Amino acid sequence: DEVYRAGVYGHRPRVPTAARALQRRARERLGGRAYSYVAGGAGGETTQRANRTAFDRYAVVPRVLRDVSVRDTSVQLFGRRLPAPLLLGPVGALELVHPAADLAVARAAASLGVPMVFSNQASVSMEECAAVMGSSPRWFQLYWSTSDELVESLVGRAEASGCDALVVTLDTTMLGWRPRDLDLGHLPFALGKGIAQYTSDPVFRRLTEERAAASAAPAPARPGAAAGRDRQPRPTLAAVRALVGMARAWPGQLLENLRSPLPRAAVETFLSIYSRPSITWADLAWLRARTRLPIVLKGVLHPDDARRALDEGVDGVVVSTHGGRQVDRSIAALDALPDVVAAVGGRAPVLLDSGVRSGADVLTAVALGARAVLLGRPFAWGLALAGEEGVRQVVSDVLGEFDLTLGLSGHTAVDQLSPDVLRRVG
Ligand code: FNR
Repeated sequence: DEVYRAGVYGHRPRVPTAARALQRRARERLGGRAYSYVAGGAGGETTQRANRTAFDRYAVVPRVLRDVSVRDTSVQLFGRRLPAPLLLGPVGALELVHPAADLAVARAAASLGVPMVFSNQASVSMEECAAVMGSSPRWFQLYWSTSDELVESLVGRAEASGCDALVVTLDTTMLGWRPRDLDLGHLPFALGKGIAQYTSDPVFRRLTEERAAASAAPAPARPGAAAGRDRQPRPTLAAVRALVGMARAWPGQLLENLRSPLPRAAVETFLSIYSRPSITWADLAWLRARTRLPIVLKGVLHPDDARRALDEGVDGVVVSTHGGRQVDRSIAALDALPDVVAAVGGRAPVLLDSGVRSGADVLTAVALGARAVLLGRPFAWGLALAGEEGVRQVVSDVLGEFDLTLGLSGHTAVDQLSPDVLRRVG
């Protein structure tokens, strides 16, 4: 109503309303590496496309002549009433698309009461974001570092920042094979973009200082003096590759890197500790013992993993393909949802992301059993085009369309949605 009325009285939106037009405009605005980093997926981007076609195989079958004049789109999640089954998912390195980055997203999210999931790869620290959000809900997303101490520190900071839940992302223990980034020699973190949660962390700063001190240690008197050489830290293979790639493909990027205010030791420290590919189910108990926050596992696609997660005392799962950025040819998130929902059997909330572009998509995922969905790329495009206002508009559009689709399909509350609302058409 509000959106239509504003238009009638001459207000025109700052960013396109339809998802495709939104992305097209963001592409024109950003171009190059920033656009490719956000838009790109793993391998042939098969999963990224599948995440969309999965939605297209479901059709809503509207019901008529039911009083839908008063509707309630709210849902309950981890002790909070949310305005709709929608959160802003963790999206890292946002500074690539807009200087206000996470801060603009935090302000927009708070103005709508929609939870924001702070990314572990954020461009602005969680404390700075929390400071502009009042009592509005926020969660923290964790990448499991090789440093236990750093994990503990990040979790403690998330608690102190008022986060309602901890999302542990499991599908990115290593960065996926992303041809667009590989071709451009692009690794935002090597430019110091998206490492604010680290550089604002006392444990990380100590680790960086130790590394810098070790690099500055005097070289051994004679080449081959074993003890001295052992103390020299070695750059990780990933760091070397990134720097060689940059040097070859992007002199401009190298320049940017040289201008980066970040000491090289911080980038090196980040590259060596950001993730731990060796984590297993056995590690979950360690985390469980260290936080009172609900733990939500992100990147669960197999029903057996969902069942196991619940058995291990986890409080929720996010069915996600990381937007098709990790395992190319992995099952689409929406295709994985029904089996995961059945495996969980109502014991905990199941969330979904990957491919959500509209209010109708939200309704489809919720009808298939998702308690809520996470929005990803669309709000990043809104941010790119119009900062905080752009994010607010993109999110309001999804909320508005969800409310309208709910009512126009004959429903007045989210808990009335079930698979019966849909037919499979493909
Ligand atoms: C992400 N995603 C992500 N996930 C996460 O757990 N931590 C992170 O730091 C990031 N960073 C990130 C950056 C960019 C540029 C993108 C596009 C995505 C994944 C994100 O949370 C979510 O799973 C996907 O964005 C969902 O897919 P769609 O809807 O964007 O296609």
